[in-house]
Amino acid sequence: MNIVVHEDKKIFHLYNEKISYIMAVLPSGQMGQLYFGKRIHDREDFRYMLQFAYRPAGSSYFKGQLEYSLEHIRQEYPCYGMTDYRQPAVEVLQQNGSRISDFQYQGYEIMDGKPALDGLPATYTEEKEEAKTIKIILKDDLIKLKLELFYTIFREGGIIARSTKFTLEGTETVQLETAMSMSIDLPDADYEWIQLSGAWSRERYIKTRKLCQGIQSVGSLRGQSSHHHNPFVVLKRPTADERQGEVIGFSLIYSGNYLIQAEVDTYDTVRIMLGLHKEEFSWHLDPGESFQTPEAVMVYSDEGLGGMSRTFHRLYQKRLARGYWRDRPRPILLNNWEATYFNFTEEKLLTIAKKAKECGVELFVLDDGWFGARSDDTAGLGDWVANRERLPEGIKGISEKVEALGMKFGLWFEPEMVNEDSDLYRAHPDWILETPNRHRSHGRNQLVLDFSREEVVDAIYEMMAKILSESKVSYIKWDMNRSITECYSNAFPPYRQGEVFHRYILGVYSLYERLTQQFPEVLFESCASGGGRFDPGMLYYAPQCWTSDDSDGIERLKIQYGTSMCYPISSMGSHVSVTPNHQVFRNTPLHTRANVAYFGTFGYELDLAQLTPEEQEEVKKQIVFMKKYRQVFQFGTFYRLLSPFENNVTAWMVVSENQKTAIVGWYRVLNGVNLPFSRLKLEGLGADICYYNNQDNRHYYGDELMYAGMIIDDPMAGQAEYEKTLGDFNSKLYVLEAE
Ligand code: DGJ
Repeated sequence: MNIVVHEDKKIFHLYNEKISYIMAVLPSGQMGQLYFGKRIHDREDFRYMLQFAYRPAGSSYFKGQLEYSLEHIRQEYPCYGMTDYRQPAVEVLQQNGSRISDFQYQGYEIMDGKPALDGLPATYTEEKEEAKTIKIILKDDLIKLKLELFYTIFREGGIIARSTKFTLEGTETVQLETAMSMSIDLPDADYEWIQLSGAWSRERYIKTRKLCQGIQSVGSLRGQSSHHHNPFVVLKRPTADERQGEVIGFSLIYSGNYLIQAEVDTYDTVRIMLGLHKEEFSWHLDPGESFQTPEAVMVYSDEGLGGMSRTFHRLYQKRLARGYWRDRPRPILLNNWEATYFNFTEEKLLTIAKKAKECGVELFVLDDGWFGARSDDTAGLGDWVANRERLPEGIKGISEKVEALGMKFGLWFEPEMVNEDSDLYRAHPDWILETPNRHRSHGRNQLVLDFSREEVVDAIYEMMAKILSESKVSYIKWDMNRSITECYSNAFPPYRQGEVFHRYILGVYSLYERLTQQFPEVLFESCASGGGRFDPGMLYYAPQCWTSDDSDGIERLKIQYGTSMCYPISSMGSHVSVTPNHQVFRNTPLHTRANVAYFGTFGYELDLAQLTPEEQEEVKKQIVFMKKYRQVFQFGTFYRLLSPFENNVTAWMVVSENQKTAIVGWYRVLNGVNLPFSRLKLEGLGADICYYNNQDNRHYYGDELMYAGMIIDDPMAGQAEYEKTLGDFNSKLYVLEAE
């Protein structure tokens, strides 16, 4: 890994074993983009990659140089209006009403490692040798606005992390109206665009289309990254697939309003930009003030989607997630939500907990309904004090009783919200986000607290910290059950209202930071009505996230497969719930529900006492199995084998770091009859390692399993004696262990 600067040619070459990222100062002073892709040799002069051509009916930056138009030059952080007509990465409203700006190269600085981003989640290094960072400094001299572009190249993996910082050095205030985290112009548009889109209970479905001329984008204006579109996009060559070919993944480390956009011009170059959504955003800079954007991460892979995903998994698991739980196998939990909803007493909870303990569960989680006047979703949010009618000895009492059973205790919070029917709202009706004199909208009967205000965040911190200090809480599920409407803060002047959405998220991050620093051994799981805020920003604070409220095993195939495009297995909250399932009313067999949930953090979302004695025995075995293999599931290398978006059969696998253990999950939605022969080509095994296969009790070399394939036939389907095991929604887990 290195960053080479060819001073006389003003060329910057960032490279490691996998990739090269090359840029240059343009003749007109802005930063030009030359190359991002597979590693190439360094050389003195890459300027031949700056292509110019006279395009009739264009505008020229220099009088008489008709071939020099920024519209046709690939750039790093473009502005609108000085011959470039494409979408800009930055727009600055100035005192005279102009939005034209021009950032000219001033210099650079190279650092070992990677500087932290103030108040924002970001990837990091543990040793300085793991990465190098270059800061390119530019300036708009007319308005004295400094622009710093940060690029980090990591030693391992085809990764470039980028962010941008503005500092006003002049005396006249300006207003940033667009401030993207990054922009890159690629030389051709022969890509498919993959996005992860969906809705509540069907989050992160893979949607693919060909890039075409014009603008295509995903984003959120809901105040949360959303169920609807994830802040992640892939550009994939049409010939690339899961195992081979060129792909570039783009991911934004942010949890609020965002935009990821591709603009393909009519000469088929593509501009990709990621950052805070430019709608509903502006940021006022007084002299001397700075603005730091969130971080964006690009991953180039010539090993297909699988190679890209594994690079994101490693990076986000090891150098985005932090703290005590980052590398630790996660406790097997039981959450009472679907077992009781709001209808519980302490006695009932302890009965459920006792049974859970008997079956081997390690952590009992008390979900919504334990606080204030919360007996349904119309009251209580904001009052983070135990309801003594339900919990006579408070959280302290129940947490100690659960610990006495031999389990850890976890607790649900929804810190950002308040019900009108709550003591907090009655005391501070001005602490919510709402626009003066306008209609007030609701989501799940609740209002959103104004987390852009420090005193609001402080008050919530105090309530939560009190409970955590007084009780034995080892885990927190941090929920967020509505999007923001009528966003406006009473604490800021009119010209700062465009900052409120971002300030809100900064407030959320600051509360997370304080709690995780103060209570470092508490495991946090983020959640937003299921997977409405499953994003890299959250992973920095909470190493796992409730993937979806839809916990049916068959539904989860698509949800978890799509989520795995960017996010590691250790981040996916996945539980076994009852049948008929509460979301789709499907009767998925218990073994299939577990076979899917193993590929995640694993737990139960039901009252185990309601299962038959045989099912309870099965659960006990599942828990023993997960305890034995969770290190492999959660921290092994993950390979997708067959996609639920394309097949009736889904398959995926994990391989332990030393390649000695591999577990293959095979899932068939509908049964067939008299089926063809079939083999599954595995990945990531040691070619020379001989594995024992638990399904047929035979041995195979890794090369056989990878190149000839694992035999997965069951042509007997349709014969009466097999009916029981071979119905719809069937699955198998193949455990392969080196001799
Ligand atoms: C939404 C979450 O996704 C559920 O798991 C549960 O915690 C409910 N909220 C509680 O209100």
